[in-house]
Amino acid sequence: MKNVTTDLNILSKVIVALDGMSAEGAITFLEKCSGKIPTAKIGMELFYKHGTDIVTQIKSKFGIDIFLDLKLHDIPNTVAGAIKSLSGLPIKMLTIHLSGGGEMIKSAIAARDKYLPDCKLLGVTYLTSLDESAFKHIWGVNKNEIEDKLNLMFKLAIDTKIDGIVLSANELLTLDNIEKKTHHKLMKICPGIRFQDEIDSNNIQDQKRVQTPDSAVKNGATYIVMGRSLTSASGLNERINKLAMMG
Ligand code: C5P
Repeated sequence: MKNVTTDLNILSKVIVALDGMSAEGAITFLEKCSGKIPTAKIGMELFYKHGTDIVTQIKSKFGIDIFLDLKLHDIPNTVAGAIKSLSGLPIKMLTIHLSGGGEMIKSAIAARDKYLPDCKLLGVTYLTSLDESAFKHIWGVNKNEIEDKLNLMFKLAIDTKIDGIVLSANELLTLDNIEKKTHHKLMKICPGIRFQDEIDSNNIQDQKRVQTPDSAVKNGATYIVMGRSLTSASGLNERINKLAMMG
């Protein structure tokens, strides 16, 4: 049922986050999208409840790409074992937390090479739900030191040669500078995406470092992750059409 009409519009870069729904709800939602969104993100909510079945079910029913967002974060041996357990699953992308450190990232890459060779491994940097006060509270980092902290994380991703990172679109330009210096390009996956009218009315729920779909893509996002802006939209078709027109 994969039926993505064009690769030129922003819709082709959308990953829809299937959160807050049952397995049946996820399937009904994807039916409503009629193949217009090329990638679905299965996160902890669906995976903890339904395991690998939900992945294979969505893949076989819709033929779309699957982003398995498990955000693995543990010691190197355990993360490698978790990836081994996913062996053979039809997933295009899988996440780990970069803050697990270089040894963990390398161990995850080695396990991916062995057990999921066609899957891109992505490192989560700092959750888009964290704001300046959270940076201060968790890491004792002041506003003017946040960029240094981001750069260290981006450099870690580049040093380990992971395929890509998950970051706020607000940080794409900082990443661009370090990519230019190191002559290394990462895939860039940006959650924390809201339509302009949602930002204007502060309808951003728990997200803090947000940006619109078009500015995220303009600033270099390879993919944008959109959850509630689509899954809770009263006019889903209008929202999808709007994305299709943004290219
Ligand atoms: O509904 P909303 O658009 O806020 O959903 C964003 C999705 O992206 C959620 O599934 C969340 O788990 C995920 N995500 C995020 N921030 C990150 C990494 C992943 O919001 N840094």
